[in-house]
Amino acid sequence: MKRFALVLSGVALMASGASLAATNVDFVKEIQPILEGKCISCHGAKKVKGKLRLDTKEFTFKEREMPAIVAGNASESELYRRITLPAGDDDIMPNEGDPLTKTQTDLILEWIKQGAVWPDGVVLGAEEAARAEAAALPEAPKPTEAELAAIAALEAIGVSARPIAMNVGWREANFYLLGTNVTDESLAPLKSVPSLMHVNLANTGITDAGLASVSGLVNLRRLHLEKTSVTDAGLPHLQALVNLRYLNLYGTSVSDAGLENLKGLKSLKSLYLWQTKVTDEGVSGLQKELPDLEIVRGWDLASVAKEEPEKESDKKEETEK
Ligand code: HEC
Repeated sequence: MKRFALVLSGVALMASGASLAATNVDFVKEIQPILEGKCISCHGAKKVKGKLRLDTKEFTFKEREMPAIVAGNASESELYRRITLPAGDDDIMPNEGDPLTKTQTDLILEWIKQGAVWPDGVVLGAEEAARAEAAALPEAPKPTEAELAAIAALEAIGVSARPIAMNVGWREANFYLLGTNVTDESLAPLKSVPSLMHVNLANTGITDAGLASVSGLVNLRRLHLEKTSVTDAGLPHLQALVNLRYLNLYGTSVSDAGLENLKGLKSLKSLYLWQTKVTDEGVSGLQKELPDLEIVRGWDLASVAKEEPEKESDKKEETEK
Protein backbone atom coordinates (compact mmCIF):
# COMPACT_ATOMS: atom_id res chain seq x y z
CA MET A 1 0.00 0.00 0.00
CA LYS A 2 2.78 2.37 0.99
CA ARG A 3 4.62 1.51 -2.14
CA PHE A 4 1.56 2.26 -4.19
CA ALA A 5 1.29 5.74 -2.60
CA LEU A 6 4.96 6.39 -3.37
CA VAL A 7 4.52 5.45 -6.98
CA LEU A 8 1.49 7.68 -7.18
CA SER A 9 3.26 10.72 -5.75
CA GLY A 10 6.12 10.08 -8.14
CA VAL A 11 3.67 10.23 -11.03
CA ALA A 12 2.13 13.38 -9.63
CA LEU A 13 5.56 15.03 -9.34
CA MET A 14 6.45 14.12 -12.87
CA ALA A 15 3.15 15.43 -14.10
CA SER A 16 3.51 18.76 -12.33
CA GLY A 17 7.10 19.07 -13.53
CA ALA A 18 5.95 18.51 -17.07
CA SER A 19 3.16 21.05 -16.86
CA LEU A 20 5.48 23.72 -15.43
CA ALA A 21 7.87 23.27 -18.31
CA ALA A 22 4.97 23.49 -20.74
CA THR A 23 3.65 26.76 -19.35
CA ASN A 24 6.09 29.28 -20.67
CA VAL A 25 4.47 32.63 -20.11
CA ASP A 26 3.57 34.22 -23.43
CA PHE A 27 4.27 37.95 -23.29
CA VAL A 28 1.90 38.99 -26.04
CA LYS A 29 -1.01 36.87 -24.84
CA GLU A 30 -0.61 37.09 -21.06
CA ILE A 31 1.54 40.04 -19.96
CA GLN A 32 0.80 42.66 -22.61
CA PRO A 33 -2.94 42.81 -21.79
CA ILE A 34 -2.18 43.37 -18.09
CA LEU A 35 0.26 46.21 -18.76
CA GLU A 36 -1.99 47.75 -21.41
CA GLY A 37 -5.04 47.56 -19.19
CA LYS A 38 -3.47 48.73 -15.96
CA CYS A 39 -0.24 50.66 -16.56
CA ILE A 40 0.09 52.22 -20.02
CA SER A 41 -2.33 55.07 -19.30
CA CYS A 42 0.32 56.50 -16.95
CA HIS A 43 3.50 54.87 -18.28
CA GLY A 44 3.07 55.10 -22.05
CA ALA A 45 3.71 57.45 -24.92
CA LYS A 46 1.03 59.96 -23.87
CA LYS A 47 1.76 60.25 -20.16
CA VAL A 48 5.02 59.38 -18.43
CA LYS A 49 4.62 59.17 -14.65
CA GLY A 50 7.58 58.41 -12.42
CA LYS A 51 9.83 58.95 -15.50
CA LEU A 52 8.97 55.37 -16.40
CA ARG A 53 7.65 54.20 -19.75
CA LEU A 54 6.48 50.62 -20.12
CA ASP A 55 5.36 50.74 -23.76
CA THR A 56 8.51 49.38 -25.38
CA LYS A 57 11.10 46.85 -24.37
CA GLU A 58 13.86 49.49 -24.62
CA PHE A 59 12.09 51.87 -22.23
CA THR A 60 11.06 49.14 -19.81
CA PHE A 61 14.54 47.69 -19.45
CA LYS A 62 16.34 51.00 -19.57
CA GLU A 63 19.09 51.38 -16.98
CA ARG A 64 17.76 53.30 -13.98
CA GLU A 65 18.45 53.65 -10.31
CA MET A 66 15.82 51.07 -9.43
CA PRO A 67 15.44 48.93 -12.53
CA ALA A 68 11.78 48.30 -13.34
CA ILE A 69 12.52 44.74 -14.35
CA VAL A 70 15.61 42.62 -13.90
CA ALA A 71 15.21 39.57 -16.11
CA GLY A 72 15.26 36.42 -14.00
CA ASN A 73 15.15 38.29 -10.71
CA ALA A 74 11.76 39.42 -9.40
CA SER A 75 13.06 40.59 -6.03
CA GLU A 76 15.37 43.11 -7.77
CA SER A 77 12.52 44.29 -10.00
CA GLU A 78 10.90 47.49 -8.75
CA LEU A 79 7.87 46.82 -10.95
CA TYR A 80 7.18 43.53 -9.18
CA ARG A 81 7.66 45.09 -5.75
CA ARG A 82 5.19 47.85 -6.58
CA ILE A 83 2.43 45.53 -7.83
CA THR A 84 2.68 43.22 -4.80
CA LEU A 85 2.48 45.84 -2.04
CA PRO A 86 -0.54 45.58 0.27
CA ALA A 87 -3.65 47.31 -1.05
CA GLY A 88 -3.72 50.92 0.17
CA ASP A 89 0.10 51.22 0.41
CA ASP A 90 1.30 54.65 -0.77
CA ASP A 91 3.62 53.08 -3.34
CA ILE A 92 1.34 50.42 -4.80
CA MET A 93 0.90 50.28 -8.60
CA PRO A 94 -1.44 50.98 -10.20
CA ASN A 95 -1.85 53.90 -7.82
CA GLU A 96 -5.51 54.24 -8.83
CA GLY A 97 -8.27 51.67 -9.19
CA ASP A 98 -8.15 48.00 -8.28
CA PRO A 99 -4.78 46.37 -7.55
CA LEU A 100 -3.71 43.54 -9.81
CA THR A 101 -5.15 40.15 -8.89
CA LYS A 102 -2.97 37.40 -7.45
CA THR A 103 -3.27 35.54 -10.76
CA GLN A 104 -1.92 38.59 -12.59
CA THR A 105 0.98 39.24 -10.21
CA ASP A 106 1.86 35.53 -10.31
CA LEU A 107 1.93 35.60 -14.10
CA ILE A 108 4.26 38.59 -14.02
CA LEU A 109 6.42 36.84 -11.41
CA GLU A 110 6.65 33.74 -13.58
CA TRP A 111 7.38 35.85 -16.67
CA ILE A 112 10.24 37.67 -14.90
CA LYS A 113 11.62 34.37 -13.57
CA GLN A 114 11.56 32.92 -17.06
CA GLY A 115 13.75 35.78 -18.29
CA ALA A 116 11.16 38.50 -18.97
CA VAL A 117 11.08 37.82 -22.69
CA TRP A 118 9.63 40.77 -24.62
CA PRO A 119 9.57 40.03 -28.33
CA ASP A 120 11.41 42.65 -30.41
CA GLY A 121 9.30 45.42 -31.81
CA VAL A 122 6.17 44.83 -29.70
CA VAL A 123 4.86 48.27 -28.71
CA LEU A 124 2.16 48.46 -26.05
CA GLY A 125 -0.88 50.68 -26.40
CA ALA A 126 -0.29 51.20 -30.11
CA GLU A 127 -3.25 49.16 -31.35
CA GLU A 128 -5.71 50.88 -29.11
CA ALA A 129 -4.52 54.33 -30.07
CA ALA A 130 -4.78 53.35 -33.72
CA ARG A 131 -8.31 51.98 -33.32
CA ALA A 132 -9.47 55.09 -31.52
CA GLU A 133 -7.99 57.18 -34.29
CA ALA A 134 -9.70 55.12 -37.01
CA ALA A 135 -13.06 55.33 -35.28
CA ALA A 136 -12.78 59.12 -35.05
CA LEU A 137 -12.12 59.53 -38.79
CA PRO A 138 -14.75 60.23 -41.41
CA GLU A 139 -16.19 57.02 -42.85
CA ALA A 140 -14.10 55.36 -45.56
CA PRO A 141 -15.52 55.56 -49.08
CA LYS A 142 -17.50 52.49 -50.21
CA PRO A 143 -15.11 49.90 -51.66
CA THR A 144 -15.08 49.74 -55.47
CA GLU A 145 -15.27 46.48 -57.44
CA ALA A 146 -11.50 46.69 -57.96
CA GLU A 147 -10.92 47.10 -54.24
CA LEU A 148 -13.14 44.13 -53.37
CA ALA A 149 -11.31 42.00 -55.95
CA ALA A 150 -7.95 43.00 -54.49
CA ILE A 151 -9.15 42.16 -50.98
CA ALA A 152 -10.24 38.73 -52.24
CA ALA A 153 -6.83 38.26 -53.87
CA LEU A 154 -5.17 38.97 -50.55
CA GLU A 155 -7.50 36.56 -48.74
CA ALA A 156 -6.48 33.90 -51.26
CA ILE A 157 -2.87 34.09 -50.10
CA GLY A 158 -3.92 34.08 -46.44
CA VAL A 159 -3.89 37.81 -45.66
CA SER A 160 -7.08 39.31 -44.36
CA ALA A 161 -7.52 43.01 -45.14
CA ARG A 162 -10.10 43.43 -42.43
CA PRO A 163 -11.78 46.48 -40.93
CA ILE A 164 -9.76 48.07 -38.14
CA ALA A 165 -12.73 48.32 -35.80
CA MET A 166 -16.42 47.55 -35.81
CA ASN A 167 -18.45 49.70 -38.20
CA VAL A 168 -15.34 51.24 -39.69
CA GLY A 169 -14.50 50.98 -43.40
CA TRP A 170 -10.77 51.56 -42.87
CA ARG A 171 -8.75 48.40 -43.08
CA GLU A 172 -5.58 46.74 -41.83
CA ALA A 173 -3.55 44.04 -43.58
CA ASN A 174 -1.22 41.83 -41.66
CA PHE A 175 1.40 39.84 -43.58
CA TYR A 176 3.55 39.25 -40.53
CA LEU A 177 2.44 35.69 -39.77
CA LEU A 178 3.24 34.49 -43.29
CA GLY A 179 6.88 35.46 -42.84
CA THR A 180 9.21 34.92 -45.77
CA ASN A 181 6.43 33.32 -47.81
CA VAL A 182 5.48 36.92 -48.55
CA THR A 183 7.37 38.26 -51.55
CA ASP A 184 7.15 41.47 -53.57
CA GLU A 185 4.58 39.80 -55.81
CA SER A 186 2.28 39.07 -52.87
CA LEU A 187 1.99 42.83 -52.34
CA ALA A 188 0.64 43.65 -55.79
CA PRO A 189 -3.07 43.71 -54.76
CA LEU A 190 -2.32 46.38 -52.12
CA LYS A 191 -2.26 49.02 -54.87
CA SER A 192 -6.02 48.66 -55.25
CA VAL A 193 -6.95 48.89 -51.57
CA PRO A 194 -6.92 52.62 -50.76
CA SER A 195 -8.88 52.05 -47.53
CA LEU A 196 -5.80 50.50 -45.93
CA MET A 197 -4.64 52.37 -42.85
CA HIS A 198 -2.29 49.80 -41.37
CA VAL A 199 0.03 47.45 -43.20
CA ASN A 200 2.31 45.07 -41.36
CA LEU A 201 5.13 43.63 -43.48
CA ALA A 202 7.51 42.89 -40.60
CA ASN A 203 9.63 39.75 -40.96
CA THR A 204 8.46 39.13 -44.51
CA GLY A 205 10.53 38.38 -47.59
CA ILE A 206 9.84 41.69 -49.34
CA THR A 207 12.52 43.86 -50.96
CA ASP A 208 12.81 47.52 -51.96
CA ALA A 209 10.95 46.91 -55.22
CA GLY A 210 7.92 45.58 -53.38
CA LEU A 211 7.39 48.92 -51.70
CA ALA A 212 6.16 50.30 -55.02
CA SER A 213 2.86 48.57 -54.14
CA VAL A 214 2.36 50.70 -51.04
CA SER A 215 3.58 53.97 -52.54
CA GLY A 216 0.08 55.11 -53.48
CA LEU A 217 -1.68 54.24 -50.21
CA VAL A 218 -2.22 57.83 -49.14
CA ASN A 219 -4.46 56.88 -46.20
CA LEU A 220 -1.79 54.71 -44.64
CA ARG A 221 -1.16 55.57 -40.97
CA ARG A 222 1.04 52.69 -39.81
CA LEU A 223 3.64 50.75 -41.72
CA HIS A 224 5.73 47.95 -40.28
CA LEU A 225 8.86 47.14 -42.27
CA GLU A 226 11.03 45.89 -39.43
CA LYS A 227 13.32 42.92 -40.01
CA THR A 228 12.98 42.95 -43.76
CA SER A 229 15.67 43.42 -46.40
CA VAL A 230 14.42 46.94 -47.14
CA THR A 231 17.28 49.42 -47.72
CA ASP A 232 17.66 53.11 -48.54
CA ALA A 233 16.70 52.32 -52.12
CA GLY A 234 13.16 51.40 -51.04
CA LEU A 235 12.38 54.53 -49.07
CA PRO A 236 11.63 56.87 -52.01
CA HIS A 237 8.43 54.78 -52.35
CA LEU A 238 7.26 56.20 -49.01
CA GLN A 239 7.52 59.87 -49.98
CA ALA A 240 3.84 60.25 -50.87
CA LEU A 241 2.52 58.66 -47.67
CA VAL A 242 1.60 62.01 -46.19
CA ASN A 243 -0.68 60.56 -43.51
CA LEU A 244 1.86 58.15 -42.16
CA ARG A 245 2.06 58.40 -38.33
CA TYR A 246 4.10 55.33 -37.47
CA LEU A 247 6.98 53.76 -39.36
CA ASN A 248 9.03 50.87 -38.06
CA LEU A 249 12.38 50.25 -39.76
CA TYR A 250 14.00 48.36 -36.91
CA GLY A 251 16.53 45.74 -37.98
CA THR A 252 16.80 46.94 -41.59
CA SER A 253 19.95 48.28 -43.25
CA VAL A 254 18.50 51.76 -43.70
CA SER A 255 21.10 54.56 -43.29
CA ASP A 256 21.19 58.35 -43.17
CA ALA A 257 20.73 58.57 -46.93
CA GLY A 258 17.39 56.78 -46.67
CA LEU A 259 16.14 59.16 -43.98
CA GLU A 260 16.26 61.99 -46.52
CA ASN A 261 13.10 60.52 -48.07
CA LEU A 262 11.18 60.88 -44.82
CA LYS A 263 11.74 64.60 -44.37
CA GLY A 264 8.47 65.51 -46.08
CA LEU A 265 6.31 63.18 -43.96
CA LYS A 266 4.91 65.91 -41.74
CA SER A 267 2.38 63.60 -40.03
CA LEU A 268 5.00 61.14 -38.85
CA LYS A 269 4.94 60.81 -35.05
CA SER A 270 6.93 57.65 -34.29
CA LEU A 271 9.91 56.25 -36.12
CA TYR A 272 11.70 53.11 -34.95
CA LEU A 273 15.32 52.90 -36.04
CA TRP A 274 17.05 50.59 -33.64
CA GLN A 275 19.59 48.22 -35.19
CA THR A 276 19.88 50.19 -38.42
CA LYS A 277 22.85 52.00 -39.99
CA VAL A 278 21.69 55.51 -39.16
CA THR A 279 24.05 57.85 -37.29
CA ASP A 280 23.49 60.64 -34.77
CA GLU A 281 24.03 63.10 -37.57
CA GLY A 282 21.36 61.61 -39.81
CA VAL A 283 18.88 61.44 -36.95
CA SER A 284 19.42 65.02 -35.86
CA GLY A 285 19.03 66.16 -39.47
CA LEU A 286 15.64 64.47 -39.65
CA GLN A 287 14.66 65.71 -36.21
CA LYS A 288 15.33 69.27 -37.36
CA GLU A 289 12.84 68.87 -40.22
CA LEU A 290 10.29 67.02 -38.09
CA PRO A 291 10.58 68.39 -34.54
CA ASP A 292 7.49 66.54 -33.23
CA LEU A 293 8.71 63.17 -34.41
CA GLU A 294 9.71 60.67 -31.74
CA ILE A 295 12.71 58.76 -33.02
CA VAL A 296 13.42 55.57 -31.13
CA ARG A 297 16.91 54.20 -31.61
CA GLY A 298 17.40 51.69 -28.84
CA TRP A 299 19.01 51.57 -25.46
CA ASP A 300 20.60 54.99 -25.31
CA LEU A 301 17.61 56.80 -26.61
CA ALA A 302 17.77 60.38 -27.71
CA SER A 303 14.00 60.37 -27.29
CA VAL A 304 14.18 59.81 -23.54
CA ALA A 305 15.03 63.46 -23.22
CA LYS A 306 11.57 64.19 -24.59
CA GLU A 307 9.83 62.63 -21.59
CA GLU A 308 7.31 64.84 -19.93
CA PRO A 309 8.92 66.50 -16.89
CA GLU A 310 7.64 64.55 -13.92
CA LYS A 311 7.10 67.42 -11.51
CA GLU A 312 4.96 69.40 -13.86
CA SER A 313 2.64 66.48 -14.56
CA ASP A 314 2.29 65.59 -10.91
CA LYS A 315 1.51 69.20 -10.10
CA LYS A 316 -1.16 69.18 -12.76
CA GLU A 317 -2.65 66.06 -11.26
CA GLU A 318 -2.77 67.69 -7.87
CA THR A 319 -4.72 70.65 -9.22
CA GLU A 320 -7.08 68.32 -11.08
CA LYS A 321 -8.18 66.80 -7.77
C1 HEC B 1 -2.91 56.57 -12.57
C2 HEC B 1 -1.53 56.61 -12.94
C3 HEC B 1 -0.69 55.37 -12.76
C4 HEC B 1 -0.97 54.09 -13.14
C5 HEC B 1 -2.24 53.55 -13.77
C6 HEC B 1 0.22 53.31 -12.87
N1 HEC B 1 1.20 54.10 -12.35
FE1 HEC B 1 3.09 53.55 -11.87
N2 HEC B 1 3.52 55.43 -11.24
C7 HEC B 1 2.63 56.49 -11.23
C8 HEC B 1 3.25 57.66 -10.61
C9 HEC B 1 2.62 59.03 -10.39
C10 HEC B 1 4.55 57.26 -10.23
C11 HEC B 1 5.63 58.14 -9.54
C12 HEC B 1 5.40 58.17 -8.07
C13 HEC B 1 5.86 56.91 -7.40
O1 HEC B 1 7.00 56.51 -7.62
O2 HEC B 1 5.04 56.31 -6.69
C14 HEC B 1 4.68 55.86 -10.63
C15 HEC B 1 5.83 55.10 -10.44
C16 HEC B 1 5.96 53.77 -10.82
C17 HEC B 1 7.16 52.99 -10.65
C18 HEC B 1 8.47 53.48 -10.03
C19 HEC B 1 9.33 54.17 -11.03
C20 HEC B 1 10.66 54.56 -10.42
O3 HEC B 1 11.66 53.93 -10.71
O4 HEC B 1 10.67 55.50 -9.61
C21 HEC B 1 6.91 51.74 -11.15
C22 HEC B 1 7.87 50.58 -11.21
C23 HEC B 1 5.55 51.75 -11.63
N3 HEC B 1 5.02 53.00 -11.42
C24 HEC B 1 4.93 50.65 -12.20
C25 HEC B 1 3.59 50.64 -12.56
C26 HEC B 1 2.93 49.46 -13.07
C27 HEC B 1 3.58 48.12 -13.26
C28 HEC B 1 1.64 49.81 -13.30
C29 HEC B 1 0.53 48.92 -13.75
C30 HEC B 1 0.30 47.72 -12.99
C31 HEC B 1 1.50 51.22 -12.99
N4 HEC B 1 2.71 51.68 -12.53
C32 HEC B 1 0.33 51.95 -13.13
C33 HEC B 1 1.35 56.48 -11.76
C34 HEC B 1 0.68 55.36 -12.25
